[in-house]
Amino acid sequence: MSDKAGTSVNGGGENVLDIKDLSISFRTARGTVRALRHVNLKVPRNKVVGIVGESGCGKSTLIWTVLQLLAPNAMVDSGEVLFEGEDLLTKPESELTNIRGQRISTIFQDPMTALNPVISIGTQMTDIQYRLKSSMAEKRKRAADMLASVGIPDPKERLNEYPHQFSGGMRQRICIAMALMMNPPLLIADEPTTALDVTLEAQIIHLMRELQRDFECSMMFVSHNLGLIAELCDEVVVMYAGEVVEQGEVRDLFHNAQHPYTQMLLECDPARIEERMRNLPTISGSVPDMIDLPPGCIFAPRCPKAYDPCLKEPPATYHAQASHGARCFLVRDA
Ligand SMILES: Nc1ncnc2c1ncn2[C@@H]1O[C@H](COP(=O)(O)OP(=O)(O)O)[C@@H](O)[C@H]1O
Ligand code: SF4
Ligand SMILES: [Mg+2]
Repeated sequence: MSDKAGTSVNGGGENVLDIKDLSISFRTARGTVRALRHVNLKVPRNKVVGIVGESGCGKSTLIWTVLQLLAPNAMVDSGEVLFEGEDLLTKPESELTNIRGQRISTIFQDPMTALNPVISIGTQMTDIQYRLKSSMAEKRKRAADMLASVGIPDPKERLNEYPHQFSGGMRQRICIAMALMMNPPLLIADEPTTALDVTLEAQIIHLMRELQRDFECSMMFVSHNLGLIAELCDEVVVMYAGEVVEQGEVRDLFHNAQHPYTQMLLECDPARIEERMRNLPTISGSVPDMIDLPPGCIFAPRCPKAYDPCLKEPPATYHAQASHGARCFLVRDA
């Protein structure tokens, strides 16, 4: 794909996104929910970073923080969210509006939330190009070319149709086309294939991988599905109860998991990774209340390997290798 619009400011060096020491809490009637604590996460240029963790671990909070669309009861306790080298947490809303949709695109589980049901696909796809100086005919041609590149037959004719005239899988393809239309440096996908059947899911993942390479964009990919993460991602971030508990390159993480939580997710059986795991395996116990945090390791109540130090203080991130870290005393004491 050579048709690249959009202006890509090459700030930020090798990382498109660099989240540093991010802590977010929500004020509630029950107390303060410390939903993200000291999160460090980088999305390198042209790489796909997968984010995995049980429900309630803070994955969506992380995404909404990057998009600066957090609920009004949210507070930033610490940190920076550097996008192309500039902190999104200090940007005025007018600039953020330009960044969202043009330079950071999103794909969500339900394509209908992204598409306007009463406006034709062609109009929606030309509207996105409002910043380009090209003629309407040129914009429609770009839109049709994008539809073709996501595998929609008769794209020129189908520009005149409305979202309900497409199947679920086709609608998600349209969302991907719209998300890539302005050649954004960063694409965020939150469970983009969860609503699709396995065959469609495989097709969409394959398509996303191809387009990501063609468009040379970076991607943050949130999923419950470890099989998809293994297939699509270059790096993996494992979240547990508001913390990054392990991160590393996909091979290291799947074949040499260091954190007991990751090990339990993988069930210590690498063969299972090859199978399609549609959902995270269930681990007994539940994610702790993030209002009352235990003094030691956040995972200790569920950890089969917990030992003395785990109950006294929280572990820092220790590195098994330079690019592979885990928040667990076992790595320090190995
Ligand atoms: N606006 C909010 N007010 C209070 N708590 C919230 C709010 N949004 C999210 N949370 C809490 O923050 C935690 C993380 O939620 P979330 O980011 O949605 O997790 P995930 O996407 O991993 O399922 C959960 O405990 C959730 O209940
Ligand atoms: S620090 Fe201790 S409790 Fe926490 S994951 Fe490691 S072994 Fe388990
Ligand atoms: Mg979520």
